[in-house]
Amino acid sequence: MEKIKINLGRVQETLLLPLVSRAKETQYKNPLLNDTKAVELFEQLDVDKKKLLRNITEIGVHGLCYRAYKMDEAIHEFLQKHPNGKILDIGAGLDTTYYRCDNGKALWYDLDLPDSIALRKQVLPEPNNRIKYIAKSMLDYSWIDDIGDISNGLFITVPGVLPYFKEEDVKIFLSTIAPKLKGAEIMFDVISNFGKFFVDMRIKRAGMKEAHLEWAILDPKIITTWSKHIEIVRAIKFFEGIPKSNQRISTKVAMRFNKIFDMTQLFHLRFV
Ligand SMILES: C[S@@+](CC[C@H](N)C(=O)[O-])C[C@H]1O[C@@H](n2cnc3c(N)ncnc32)[C@H](O)[C@@H]1O
Repeated sequence: MEKIKINLGRVQETLLLPLVSRAKETQYKNPLLNDTKAVELFEQLDVDKKKLLRNITEIGVHGLCYRAYKMDEAIHEFLQKHPNGKILDIGAGLDTTYYRCDNGKALWYDLDLPDSIALRKQVLPEPNNRIKYIAKSMLDYSWIDDIGDISNGLFITVPGVLPYFKEEDVKIFLSTIAPKLKGAEIMFDVISNFGKFFVDMRIKRAGMKEAHLEWAILDPKIITTWSKHIEIVRAIKFFEGIPKSNQRISTKVAMRFNKIFDMTQLFHLRFV
């Protein structure tokens, strides 16, 4: 089969990192995620696979998969309570969450910039009419109308996106959508200033020299000062409760270091 060429902007091309990580993790012994769809997709792309696989470290793979693993867990919990709810993935890239978490009833929305959605449609066309792709910037708030009624519940994930924005933009984004989506929950990953240094290094090492991390934060309480419509559900340190597996010693040390300094976390919030 002919491989699919990639022509994406500098932030958009970072979608390759979580994809390659999920594909690589799936091939480890006792993987955190079993993402056969990611393996299949990665195979289809015309990218320098050897270089990408060589340049992504084990801690990088586990970090990106831990994020997906915890988001999957939260989605499963949400779907238990809201089986007919809606799931919106902002900055979906080539995310394969639907294939890991669908319950056969929920409605799924994947939003990303037009070039990322064009690639997604090419390699991962909508499998049925419960899943819709939205080719818009998350800053074009007309996507709220595309989602429509949220009385059956809305869970939003924003994996690997907000740290690329300036704090002011994140503040405007969250405080704009919160009052319009009361009752919805949102989960996204964040990075500290210290963590930014290491993660930026990993992104550059993987060949994405033009993608820069911007927003750093340690304490989720700061976000609640941006809008009275935002409440904290929980903050999760990366690698907390990660099942034991046979990682290298250097990876175990890096995970511990990451936890001690809260280098990366997941924030789970509710709009009220
Ligand atoms: C690191 S990738 C993460 C991809 C995906 N969430 C995953 O974990 O596999 C960042 C994604 O954010 C998307 N993105 C960047 N700016 C965006 C914007 N203004 N609106 C929507 N998506 C955006 C990129 O196109 C890219 O797909």
